[in-house]
Amino acid sequence: MCSRTSKQFSRTLVTTALPYANGPVHLGHLAGVYLPADIYVRFKRLRGEEVIHIGGSDEHGVPITITADREGIDPQKVVDRYHAMNLDSFRRCGISFDYYGRTSSKLHYETASDFFREIDRKGIFVKKKEQHFFDPRAGRFLSDRYVTGTCPQCGNPEANGDQCEQCGTHLSPRELLDPRSKLSDEAPVLRETLHWYFPLGRFQKKLEEYVDRHAVEWRTNVVNYSRTWLKQGLNDRAITRDLAWGVPVPLDTGEAEGKVLYVWFDAVLGYISFTRAWAAGRGEPELWREYWQSPDARIVHFIGKDNVVFHTLMFPAILMAWNEGRTSEVYTLADNVPASEFMNFEGRKFSKSRNYAVYLGEFLDRFPADTLRYTVAMNYPENKDSDFSWTDFQNRTNGELADTLGNFIKRSVDFTNSKFGGRVPHQCSSEDWKAPGIEWDDCFERLQQAYEQFHFREATALGMEIARAANRFLTDSEPWKALKTDRAAAARTMALSLNLCHTLAIVLYPVIPETADRIYRMLGFSESLEDALKNGDVRWSMAAEPRLPEGHLLSGESEILFSKISDSDIAPELEKIEKLLANIGNGEEQPREAVEPEDSGFSPEIAYDEFLKVDLRAATVLECEKVKRADKLLRLQVRVGGETRQVLAGLAGSYRPEDLVGRQVVMVANLAERRIRGEISQGMILAAEGNDGKLQLVEVGGDDVNGKRVQ
Ligand code: MF3
Ligand code: ZN
Repeated sequence: MCSRTSKQFSRTLVTTALPYANGPVHLGHLAGVYLPADIYVRFKRLRGEEVIHIGGSDEHGVPITITADREGIDPQKVVDRYHAMNLDSFRRCGISFDYYGRTSSKLHYETASDFFREIDRKGIFVKKKEQHFFDPRAGRFLSDRYVTGTCPQCGNPEANGDQCEQCGTHLSPRELLDPRSKLSDEAPVLRETLHWYFPLGRFQKKLEEYVDRHAVEWRTNVVNYSRTWLKQGLNDRAITRDLAWGVPVPLDTGEAEGKVLYVWFDAVLGYISFTRAWAAGRGEPELWREYWQSPDARIVHFIGKDNVVFHTLMFPAILMAWNEGRTSEVYTLADNVPASEFMNFEGRKFSKSRNYAVYLGEFLDRFPADTLRYTVAMNYPENKDSDFSWTDFQNRTNGELADTLGNFIKRSVDFTNSKFGGRVPHQCSSEDWKAPGIEWDDCFERLQQAYEQFHFREATALGMEIARAANRFLTDSEPWKALKTDRAAAARTMALSLNLCHTLAIVLYPVIPETADRIYRMLGFSESLEDALKNGDVRWSMAAEPRLPEGHLLSGESEILFSKISDSDIAPELEKIEKLLANIGNGEEQPREAVEPEDSGFSPEIAYDEFLKVDLRAATVLECEKVKRADKLLRLQVRVGGETRQVLAGLAGSYRPEDLVGRQVVMVANLAERRIRGEISQGMILAAEGNDGKLQLVEVGGDDVNGKRVQ
């Protein structure tokens, strides 16, 4: 492979996407963002490099106020709860943040406000007057999520103003048929309001250069998502909202009243404000600049694929706007943005709204962190979606962690304790070191590159390869037999095995730090591995050679590192999934794809046999009438083959009922029955939207096709 980063940096700032403090983090979050980042920073610390890991809670945004409204509590209460919960789960999982902040903190408000004012002062923002939905009863403007109504695509009566959960279509509130306010359940009215827009287009060229500059070393998905947006041309983005929860727009003019910064504008700045808080906490309040405003520092954002453009385009553009015309306090842009694909759970997307998830905290109540970290690392969704399954977790824990790694360590230590007085019984030479059949130079080069270049599955697998080779070596050498015939040979085997234990503790430390520490202590070190790292007593390079000298005294203790997971341990989990799936329905929920660039056109690819599941038929409209109190809905009776079905369709704005009778249309004949505004709908009729916003039916000509498949 070509060399990735030619530039030498003296320190690294690692950030992880700020999870919304609106629910517990689940294994999907862990796999895509927090575990890889933690593995990376632990590796850097092992290398003796200066690195900090900054994360925290994203505490703004409409879903949080919706939770608060639903529970009848203050949004602050909601974020307090989930901030504490997530922080605790991360701690128990060994995710080693140097600082875990909150966007509801004072320093964050100050930082975000500074940015807004600086960009405003330069006259970069564009102000626009526009019409938004307003709830007269509640006296509030309604953000997209506060509007509900019937989906124009699939007829789901409870679509959200931004997206229909049922069919996945992205919507704007004004597209909904019969929109209603979630606050009062009444029809909202349009009212004029003023908003600040960030003109992304102004930075188009610079952003293109930025992406081009990194195109070789960034992941393909990151480059592609960014370029798709760039190709479409960047538009102005509204960065204010009419909301009561968030960072108030920091202007004294009356026109800013009642408005807050858009959550994404303030959230990305959290990385900066939290680094400031970290520095302040160390009593060196200016130290953060060494990471953000220094050409020697390397910034790396770990995120999921749904966050790419916010990190490769929006955030850099905000920093460019700040930097414009400046010679001091100039911000550095990220050097890399390793975005993950998604890890699924038992073959389906994690879904918080359907409670189809394993939450991190719950998992750790039942199983040790390192078993989870190992399995998740081995399923790191680096270039494509991956899957977490309970049986895979069980197999890896039992076969790889317990039978291979754990078994090797315990046998090495136990045998030495009982037969060699708990001391390393031989001085390993470099010749001895070759005995297990590992190509050390090559092995270390690959391991190092894998960690360095975010190939964490490969790094973990290579570590396990060493354990496998070591275990095989110990078994094949049969020191228990040699003991009687050739004690020196047995001593050499054990000295080598113990040194391999030491090597394994180091190379696997980034992935399973707690286990590494236990190995390290069994080997007789009184300091924790963590402390040894801080004090410089352990370094990455020590793994490449035998470091335990003859006579080195072990702790005298040994422990079982991993207990096996039995079928009955995971049975309740499998049962839970079955129940959940039964509730979700007939199992046809479409996994939701990452947010594609806006209006990129087509839906995510599906397999041919998925398409074949949709049963399209030619049908004839027999009767048609308007649905009372639903402006856009028509009730149709259609004949399809030998059956008559009732279908509700959002066609009233486009056709008069009498014009539809007799037409031959295309319908989805195997769609599950749904209720729309209290009425049964037994199918869906295909139509395309014209430029005038009116729907035009897809019609089939010819006699005798009624009931036939359309394909
Ligand atoms: N809260 C966002 C999400 O969960 C991520 C924000 S990352 C940020 O999708 F740091 F940019 F805020
Ligand atoms: Zn829909």
